[in-house]
Amino acid sequence: MFTIITGTQFGDEGKGKIVDLMAREYDLIVRFQGGDNAGHTVVVDGKKYKLHLTPSGVLFDARLLIGPGTVMNPQTLATELNTLADEGTVVDEKKLGIDAKTSIIMPYHVELDGLGESARSVKIGTTKRGIGYAYIDKVARDEVQMSDLADEERLRRRLEELTPIKAAQIQSMGGDPSIMEDETWIRTYIELGRRFAPFIADVSHEINTALDQGKKVLAEGAQGAHLDVIHGTQKFVTSSSCIAGSACANLGVGPTRVDEVVGILKAYITRVGEGPLPTELKNRTGDYIREAGGEFGTTTGRPRRCGWFDLPLVKKSVALNGYTQIALTKLDVLSDMHPLKVCVAYELDGTRLDYPPESTADLARCVPVLEDLPGWDGDLTGIRSMDALPDGAIEYLSRLESLVGVPFKYISVGPGREQTFIK
Ligand code: GDP
Ligand code: IMO
Ligand code: MG
Repeated sequence: MFTIITGTQFGDEGKGKIVDLMAREYDLIVRFQGGDNAGHTVVVDGKKYKLHLTPSGVLFDARLLIGPGTVMNPQTLATELNTLADEGTVVDEKKLGIDAKTSIIMPYHVELDGLGESARSVKIGTTKRGIGYAYIDKVARDEVQMSDLADEERLRRRLEELTPIKAAQIQSMGGDPSIMEDETWIRTYIELGRRFAPFIADVSHEINTALDQGKKVLAEGAQGAHLDVIHGTQKFVTSSSCIAGSACANLGVGPTRVDEVVGILKAYITRVGEGPLPTELKNRTGDYIREAGGEFGTTTGRPRRCGWFDLPLVKKSVALNGYTQIALTKLDVLSDMHPLKVCVAYELDGTRLDYPPESTADLARCVPVLEDLPGWDGDLTGIRSMDALPDGAIEYLSRLESLVGVPFKYISVGPGREQTFIK
């Protein structure tokens, strides 16, 4: 059984929570793209785990894998694993595998990300984790892979080859090229290479073998459909493909093996960083949702921009991902708001659009067509079944489900694992 989970919006939909919830039924939990730009939160018994690279199934017995299509900062991973160990969860090489071909985020990628962003007159608002520059190097075939990191001699040879290119690039962007000769980080990376050498794995082979043996594999997406580097709101996107098909390509698993594709959908919409957000609420309602939903970035702490549920964008996610199920999150955040609004279409130059325009510049000009729903009063965080929901919440869910056209399987009413029910 092979299940893929992806974000339907602009990330931060609650993927970490739902992966943790589903993880007990899976043998392998796998990250397939992105890097430590992701921030996936898991809350169990009131304890919060913020995971950037470790797959969100870490609290169960499943084996975890980091696939070759990810970009991995070994310093972030080491810090994350140390914190988990301090809290009693030991992640050793039996628990976690890292593909030999995984691209390593080097300190110069982080430097270049900062320089690139400050040079842009129109910002993207990246997480400054070096993601884009690590992917540039992957495509340019100038990356350092996990297997290079694990072998000091190979790493040094690779750096010798790359240093003149990177130093020139850093200098041309106004930075300090001496970072390329700085033995401090190079020694740290050699140490990290030694630490993670035993974790090296062949992710595609491991997953395909597990599937042949009838095991269950869960692929955990990072970011969301509209941050996809190909289909998202370019240029305001991340540098990897975040849609379901990307899991197959990045993990080396044939599309014929996919059984379920689960979309994580927030009951409203948020975005962190720049780029169009047609239903954005730049007013007290937006501030209210941000506070009620704790909408501050898990990775950067930046306030997230908040808006009403945007159906055209979700329709596009459904098309891009081919969802078989939806997990609807953060319903509890919308309590006590009257009326609730849902964007059912856009208006652009006098024309009504049911689906987003393909050009980002056009999307930025779209005006939402809003439908009112009555809403409900009271706290939903203790509710564990559909029939215990207030009428207004049932009406909101039913309306969204019929508009989206994919069955809502899970309803989430709080950050905790137990604050979820099956519809
Ligand atoms: P991810 O990147 O998709 O994993 O999402 P994040 O972890 O970045 O952001 C989601 C935030 O919402 C986290 O703080 C979660 O603990 C929290 N969360 C998830 N589901 C719910 C929910 O149903 N209700 C509330 N109130 N919070 C939730
Ligand atoms: P999770 O997995 C929300 C956004 C950044 C920026 C753009 C490009 O937690 O949902 P990058 O550093 O990737 O080059 O930044 O993408 N972004 C995210 N927004 N959730 C994320 O991940 C994100 N990862 C990147 O804010 O706008
Ligand atoms: Mg997040």
